[in-house]
Amino acid sequence: MHTSRRLAALGSGVFARSDARKQAYRDRSPTTGSLGLIDLSLGSSDLQPPSGVLCAMRDAIPAPSSSAYCLQAATAPFREAVADWCQRRFGVTVDPEHEVQLLVGSQEGTAHLPLAVLNPGDPALLLDPCYPSHRGGLLLADADVIPLRLQAAHGWRPPLKELSASVWDRLKLFVFGYPHNPTACVGDQELLDQIMHLGERHKVVIAHDNPYVDLALEGQAPSLLHSPGWREWGVEFFSLSKGWCLGGFRLAFAVGASPLIAALRQVKAVVDFNQSLALQQAAITALRDFADWPATLRETYRQRRDRVLAGFAMRSWSVPKPDMALYLWVPCPEAAAAHGWKDERCAAELLQRSGVALTPGSGFGQGGEGWLRMALVRPSSELEAAVSRLADAVDALA
Ligand SMILES: Cc1ncc(COP(=O)(O)O)c(C=O)c1O
Repeated sequence: MHTSRRLAALGSGVFARSDARKQAYRDRSPTTGSLGLIDLSLGSSDLQPPSGVLCAMRDAIPAPSSSAYCLQAATAPFREAVADWCQRRFGVTVDPEHEVQLLVGSQEGTAHLPLAVLNPGDPALLLDPCYPSHRGGLLLADADVIPLRLQAAHGWRPPLKELSASVWDRLKLFVFGYPHNPTACVGDQELLDQIMHLGERHKVVIAHDNPYVDLALEGQAPSLLHSPGWREWGVEFFSLSKGWCLGGFRLAFAVGASPLIAALRQVKAVVDFNQSLALQQAAITALRDFADWPATLRETYRQRRDRVLAGFAMRSWSVPKPDMALYLWVPCPEAAAAHGWKDERCAAELLQRSGVALTPGSGFGQGGEGWLRMALVRPSSELEAAVSRLADAVDALA
């Protein structure tokens, strides 16, 4: 069977590879008597959504309108709830009709946007490492992908000075996000303002992926909605997956320049209709009645982070302190390098030897090579057990 060149460029995807390794581990462990799997490879939290949100969804399910196809007009109450949230959260007035779009996830939005704004071969910039849908979306749109390499030595900040005015003049799109997955840096407003300003000056669409906006543990997470210019050349993606623990329900939204929202809507209209009104009712309830929910999660993540960091330190494994909740960005142990293992092999070997699943950094781009991402998505005691198992496995290697 022939498949497209595009598909070959996409590759198998880091989460799919890691899923296969975890399944193989689970299948084998009853016979080998291995330790139970501790899966820290996905940013899918064990923490709970507000029960009021689930009740709102449950109550809306029997309504006939929840079973019907939902076209754009019927998403108006959701879009209005988003506009109200933007007003309260950022003090920014947003037009719910023209500047808001419901999404199946921030992943879906960032993956579809390039189809709406790029022609094949158009140059588009992304951060390296970055969340996989940023690269995937550009590849699906046959973009000329330009990676902007982030480095630990520069605090994982984008080296904007490396981009000349002529590069900016050629660019059509820049996709990025702070707080940044996988490096767990929060970023700052000045950075976003600078990028938005460059976008306006050089007529580049600036797409900012912001599912962690309420999950900074240190400092303030930036938002493109605070950067003058978003209404002309910017779009920002928000999600209910992380702050409200609703990842499985696939609820997110874009807020942006009206021509960009219209273009994204046009692409999405080909692909599918919208989620059930029962799901939208859950999202409306979350944004309206539980806007503080993400803040209540932060304390739990902070405790987890601090206990895990202490565990690593006790085992002489030096891990930088992340500024955002949810992830630790962990350097591969020297013992792995001594065996000639790159991060993907290192993650596979650590899984085999400790039963702890981490994500290899190179799965987010070459800039992530040599690193492993640990998601803090289990209770502290389990995370501490994971650190101790990992450190035992590394000690045994040495
Ligand atoms: C930067 C980034 N964007 C998007 C997503 C996916 O979000 P959603 O569940 O809204 O698709 C993630 C999930 O880990 C992420 O880290």
